Amino acid sequence: MDALTLEQVSHAYGAVEAVRDVSLALAPGELVCLLGPSGCGKTTVLRLSAGLEELQKGRVLIDGRVVADGRRQEPPEARNVGLMFQDYALFPHLSAAGNVEFGLRRLTGAERRARAAEALEKVGMGGQAEAFPHTLSGGQQQRVALARALAPEPHIMLLDEPFSGLDVRLRNQIRDDALHVLKSSGAATLMVTHDPEEAMFMADRIAVMRDGRILQVGPPADLYYAPADAFVAGFFGDINRLQARVAGGRVATLLGEVEARGFDDGIEVEVLIRPEALKLEPVTSGAPSEGCCGTARVMAARLLGRTSLVHLSVDGVDGEDLHLHARVPGRFLPEENEIMMICLDYSQTFVFAAGEAK
Ligand SMILES: Nc1ncnc2c1ncn2[C@@H]1O[C@H](COP(=O)(O)OP(=O)(O)OP(=O)(O)O)[C@@H](O)[C@H]1O
Ligand SMILES: [Mg+2]
Repeated sequence: MDALTLEQVSHAYGAVEAVRDVSLALAPGELVCLLGPSGCGKTTVLRLSAGLEELQKGRVLIDGRVVADGRRQEPPEARNVGLMFQDYALFPHLSAAGNVEFGLRRLTGAERRARAAEALEKVGMGGQAEAFPHTLSGGQQQRVALARALAPEPHIMLLDEPFSGLDVRLRNQIRDDALHVLKSSGAATLMVTHDPEEAMFMADRIAVMRDGRILQVGPPADLYYAPADAFVAGFFGDINRLQARVAGGRVATLLGEVEARGFDDGIEVEVLIRPEALKLEPVTSGAPSEGCCGTARVMAARLLGRTSLVHLSVDGVDGEDLHLHARVPGRFLPEENEIMMICLDYSQTFVFAAGEAK
């Protein structure tokens, strides 16, 4: 049985339709990320799941039990959900342990203390149980907030941008810790983020949202390698875009021919190519490798750490040059103005009808 189910949920704030016909089910122990740009309705979905917002349309079920259906509405405290919101505010007058114990009022004093100590230990804050929030760093406060949400052992965790406002290194560490804590807790987790890398790092499945709707749900690899539309494809990072027209189930681009099955002849399409799908080879007199389809001039090359980003220019028709990005593993820094053979990995190349959402 699913731990949390949303069935055709819609929600409007006055004239603003914040959530439109959202259906989503989380299995027990599953971690699902809601991913989408600012204002697309992510927090609203979380608030509706928690019972902090009155449901207008659809149903919400927890462990198969209807908790809201537009007529009845269970209050948040009856739903056994752990919450951690964007601002994760701790009570300033309570110690770390006091904050965690706050959600455990139904237990006896000794049980409460033991459970709070255990939860703080899990997030690596066991040594600072007596510290007050103002003496803790942002990352430490965030971990206490996570412990506070986890301590009552909820079946369901709802996390809204739980790692925002942390510097990159701390964020990486805390989300690594959080992933292990959440997975071992067995709670089903619905986590909001607008960062696609964070979603891929954390999620068993990702639901991509836009304008109140879920566009695609699936394991990160499905969304990355088989995006449902141009918006989903483009949301997972920088992508090269080429316009072309279909002829005989294929499109001719400046980078060679690409298959465009399912499109009628004459239709204008957009060809999306991930930067890592562009491979570069030296121009030699021998036969080029498979997929090599032309040459490009290097405009600039920069080492970004694990990969290098090469800016390329391809001579276009009408004198309009095409600017492309190629992402190459490791250190690969060809000279400016060097001419390179450009080769395409078709598994990372997508064709969508032009004019579709960007
Ligand atoms: N209490 C409210 N009253 C009126 N409009 C609201 C209210 N809360 C949210 N909205 C509107 O509903 C839409 C969805 O908001 P929501 O907070 O769910 O977005 P979000 O995806 O969480 O965005 P962000 O990434 O910026 O946090 C937005 O257009 C927002 O302006
Ligand atoms: Mg939000």
